[in-house]
Amino acid sequence: MFPDLAGRRALVTGGTRGIGRSVVLGLAQAGATVVVGHQRQTEDAESLRRELKDTGGDHLLVQADVADPAQIGELLEATGTHLGGLDIVVNSVGTISHVPYAQLPLEAWTQVLATNLTATHLVTQGALALLGDSGSVINIGSGAGLVGVPLRAHYTAAKTGLIGLTRSLSKELGGRGIRVNLVSPGVIETDQAAGMPDAARAAYTNRIPLGRLGEAHEVAAVVLFLASDVSSYVNGATFTVDGGI
Ligand SMILES: NC(=O)c1ccc[n+]([C@@H]2O[C@H](COP(=O)([O-])OP(=O)(O)OC[C@H]3O[C@@H](n4cnc5c(N)ncnc54)[C@H](OP(=O)(O)O)[C@@H]3O)[C@@H](O)[C@H]2O)c1
Repeated sequence: MFPDLAGRRALVTGGTRGIGRSVVLGLAQAGATVVVGHQRQTEDAESLRRELKDTGGDHLLVQADVADPAQIGELLEATGTHLGGLDIVVNSVGTISHVPYAQLPLEAWTQVLATNLTATHLVTQGALALLGDSGSVINIGSGAGLVGVPLRAHYTAAKTGLIGLTRSLSKELGGRGIRVNLVSPGVIETDQAAGMPDAARAAYTNRIPLGRLGEAHEVAAVVLFLASDVSSYVNGATFTVDGGI
């Protein structure tokens, strides 16, 4: 189904669960060698390690909290040592909370901005030396960043920031053969959606023309397209994957 990514080297942040995990497995199944960033040692991390082993490649999981710039440095160093360079960077890491704006503590604002926006900047900037003069950077935004959502001012500010970051970098880095694009998922069946109250799930389903939430692999499919040469003339674009909501 997907182009051959044999020989390609990829870094995926937030790769042990949800959308990032689907991206990691899709890249590995397409033949790429993947370094996976994640925050905690969990059963999810262990099971991914096992699943990756079955794909046969020499993949690596690296525990690094991307809210800490020093740990991003360690993640990039481990990536360089393991892969020797990079062809694909997928900034999938993200975190969310729901807080009334009037009560939003600076700490929550700072943490959500650091994980969703600053981490994407620092990972991408740090990856430039490994990318050299070609490559594909894919940032994972959110449909929420395109429309705004109550109680998510901090999250949507970060996700909207990714649009500006993506578009500016597509122009600044395009000249050296690096494409930068954004994928904005709608409501996707991940751990986050699993905790959604029935009423909220029904309200979303009613508003989605396709009549259902999305699956992580349906977002990963677009990421794989952008990672491959099939999308060689796509740069600075935002792809919504949201069932048409
Ligand atoms: N799910 C949706 O409906 C939806 C909709 C729109 C946009 N998105 C965006 O899509 C991306 C993936 O979302 P998801 O729902 O698939 O994610 P998820 O299931 O919540 O998984 C998050 C991943 O990020 C890692 N992570 C979280 N905080 C981290 C940190 N500080 N440092 C390093 N790793 C960290 C987690 O690792 P651990 O397991 O080790 O904590 C996990 O691998 C995010 O950017 C999100 O904003 C999701």
